[in-house]
Amino acid sequence: MYKIFETVDEVSRYTAQRLLDKIKATPAAVLGLATGSTMEPVYAQLLQHMQQLAVDVSQLTTFNLDEYIGLSADHPQSYNFYMYQHLFNHLNLPAQRVHLPDGLASHIEEACQSYSAAIQAAGGLDLQLLGIGSNGHIGFNEPQTCFNSRTHVVELSAQTRIDNGRFFADQSQTPSHAITMGILDILEAKEIILVATGPNKTQIMAQLYDSPIDEALPASALKQHPNLTIVLDREAAALLPEHALKSAV
Ligand code: F6R
Repeated sequence: MYKIFETVDEVSRYTAQRLLDKIKATPAAVLGLATGSTMEPVYAQLLQHMQQLAVDVSQLTTFNLDEYIGLSADHPQSYNFYMYQHLFNHLNLPAQRVHLPDGLASHIEEACQSYSAAIQAAGGLDLQLLGIGSNGHIGFNEPQTCFNSRTHVVELSAQTRIDNGRFFADQSQTPSHAITMGILDILEAKEIILVATGPNKTQIMAQLYDSPIDEALPASALKQHPNLTIVLDREAAALLPEHALKSAV
């Protein structure tokens, strides 16, 4: 299902409300979370609602999608740092229920296996929030990642390093590798919300709309999911065909 809104603000409010509804309906929900600039206004809206409504998050469990290899949790560009800055520092979530891949793990393969196993031990993801890369990646599953993948180490594509270079002082400091939940981990979530906003996502959203399910476009794996919502602003949806825009709610 597509939801298309005029503005980023409306996209973020809708997405935050979906998260909030899930938390209210299932206080012990297991949430899969994403980082990136798309999610910043989503988390800002979510926090605002949560604080107004004094929502109890003490039973929630979270698993983040990915983390750069080589960045410590206190590095300002690590996803760990991002999550505490934008969400966790402002919520009363028990630390043992918050999970992020460890970018400094010494036994990285074991750490990857334990991460997917921990998601399963928690009962699986009730809701996975996703952004999308301009090359169609979800998490850091780059083009040609096997759709049967579990948490693994990935070499970031040149496009992703260019896109994410904006967060680093200079391009050469963008990490070359990351740990990411696999596509199968993501597909096993009971519900998925993919959010894309702004002109940098216009091309890929049009490509995704037309694409068959194909490992060359990682987000196309989501087309086989029974409970997927794609939330776009007008800019990201700009090249969707007329009939898609009409049928979007
Ligand atoms: C981040 C993640 C990535 C981003 C994607 C879009 O945890 O998994 O897939 O969602 O790269 O990033 P932004 O929102 O910065 O355009």
